[in-house]
Amino acid sequence: MSEKTFYITTPIYYPSGNLHIGHTYTTVAADTITRFKKLQGYDTYFLTGTDEHGQKIEKVAAEAGVAPQAYVDGIVTGIKSLWDTMNINYDQFIRTTDPEHEKTIQRIFKKLYDQGDIYKSNYEGWYCTPCESFWTESQLVEGNCPDCGRPVEKASEEAYFFKMSKYADDLLKHIEEHPHFIQPESRKNEMINNFIKPGLQDLCVSRTSFTWGVPVDFDPGHVVYVWIDALPNYISALGYLNDKPDLMEKYWPADVHLVGKDIIRFHTIYWPIILMALKLPLPKQVYGHGWILLKGGKMSKSVGNVVDPVVLVDKYGVDALRYHVLREMSYGSDGVYNEDLLVSHINSDLANDLGNLLSRTLAMTDKYFGGVIPTERETEDIDTDLIALAEKTPGVVSDYMDKLDFSRALEEIWKLVSRSNKYIDETQPWVLGKSPEKQARLAQVMYNLTESLRIVTVLISAAMPETARKIGEQLNCPAACLTWDSIQHFGGYPEGLKIERCDALFPRIELEKKAEQPVKEAKAEKAKKENESKTPEELPEGLITIDDFAKVQLRVAEVVACEPHPDADRLLVLQLQVGQEKRQVVSGIAKYYAPADLVGKTVILVANLKPVNLRGLESNGMILAATKGKKLSLVTVDGIPSGGKVS
Ligand code: ME8
Ligand code: MG
Repeated sequence: MSEKTFYITTPIYYPSGNLHIGHTYTTVAADTITRFKKLQGYDTYFLTGTDEHGQKIEKVAAEAGVAPQAYVDGIVTGIKSLWDTMNINYDQFIRTTDPEHEKTIQRIFKKLYDQGDIYKSNYEGWYCTPCESFWTESQLVEGNCPDCGRPVEKASEEAYFFKMSKYADDLLKHIEEHPHFIQPESRKNEMINNFIKPGLQDLCVSRTSFTWGVPVDFDPGHVVYVWIDALPNYISALGYLNDKPDLMEKYWPADVHLVGKDIIRFHTIYWPIILMALKLPLPKQVYGHGWILLKGGKMSKSVGNVVDPVVLVDKYGVDALRYHVLREMSYGSDGVYNEDLLVSHINSDLANDLGNLLSRTLAMTDKYFGGVIPTERETEDIDTDLIALAEKTPGVVSDYMDKLDFSRALEEIWKLVSRSNKYIDETQPWVLGKSPEKQARLAQVMYNLTESLRIVTVLISAAMPETARKIGEQLNCPAACLTWDSIQHFGGYPEGLKIERCDALFPRIELEKKAEQPVKEAKAEKAKKENESKTPEELPEGLITIDDFAKVQLRVAEVVACEPHPDADRLLVLQLQVGQEKRQVVSGIAKYYAPADLVGKTVILVANLKPVNLRGLESNGMILAATKGKKLSLVTVDGIPSGGKVS
């Protein structure tokens, strides 16, 4: 029986339209830390859901010509299917229209009223008669209705209010005594100096000008307003003031409320005050993450510049998207979304670093040992550095995960991936493979690589569950060797297992710049080109135009590593640096060059060649060579750094 519990929540999202990659980030982050804690033996509970009441939903439903309930039901189905697509493993999906939630809200409202924290008064504001909408001063746009732009009239509406100021001193004390309550740190100072210290306004908690909400049961005509309906979802989900409060006893207080920076104020001021009034313990932490920005602005349903995660998953796969959002959003700050960045994460971190480590390790284990690493092995001093890093990494990753710094946690895992790739270059298994007396040494090298991969697999399993499952299958690892405890020491990969090679984990993505251009632009460009140059039919046979030649992208590339192909004597596998980019090219030059002779050479790469698979390894491009008879020489350049163009 586990005694450690971990309760985490995302915000409950407004079902006023489809969710976008910003919401996806929050939910993937919550899913990742939950899976990680579960791996570490915690009894976890992960809550997400939807915030379905209010004037705005009432309005969009009316515009769609359906009842509010029918409208939100439709959107919620879509949201749940998005979370299935993203492989989100929540324990509960709460809807504020759930009857149990509504009952809890009514009981909370009554309790707070009975004890004098809620009182009845008037809500002063502005009314738009044609829209039948009530607006506050700050919502108006140039003094007019923000919806229709028409003039508004001063109006007053009977409403209940919550006495926020009564608890301000206690809240300030709590924040100061609990340095981890508001994270990141910078958000804490903002809350104290901009909101709490200047004095808290009482909060309007009921309305009479719309009806789509939880009715105040002791005062017909009033419905509970916004935050006092939404925030307590975190406890109504656990059965607070309901018949089944078991979950409340087990999981409250929450370990983390994960929220975007726009709603951190409600979670660090209103919510703790509501809890204090209810005499409940406060959540251990409210973590305010940044926004995913798009071309300098925030992506938002109302602005209409949203990026649809479903489209990206279709195109690139769920784990690539999960990796990208977690890696891109650095601790608490804003991140930028653009597709090129996503593709470069896939090509460089996933396909090149992780994918190649796996395919090289498995291919060589297959080639040299028929897929089973021999037990007779021989260590060397050069192994200690890799082993030390592999043993240190789980602890370091765990520390960053505890801080919800997913980007740094992944960075640390990738240090181990890179160190393992470097270990291949250092130990040169293909050289060992040639000497019968080096078999024990070769066996140790392959074991160390496989073992590092096992540790990496467990560490990435929270962020990329599908990928971890696939690698685990290829390593043929039993479940007992994919646990948190099992990766605390190097050497847990069992003896005698036979590895099972499969397809590449992450095929490289070729950027189709042309396809992304608007069709019009592409057509105009084509027409221009056609005028400038002759079509091939008009040229003497064998000649091409300068435009034909320009289609071939030639780039200067540096060979950073090279080894024989494990399955083909004729082939070498070259790792190239092309400016910022890494490439793997498989080339039929083993007869002419020893791998070691090529490292450091600057060659010419045909960079836009369609990738091909050569005996199980992907080749992305071709390097140029001159030949005559039995001679071959690679075309090399001097003094031009990698990435340079050839034209
Ligand atoms: O605020 N990048 O719901 P909501 C990152 N119902 N996060 C983003 C984002 C972006 N571009 N755009 C939105 C509500 N978000 C309330 C919450 S909780 C008791 C009630 C985040 O659907 C945003 O920061 O408008 C917020 O945390 C969440 O999406 C929900 O936004
Ligand atoms: Mg919002």
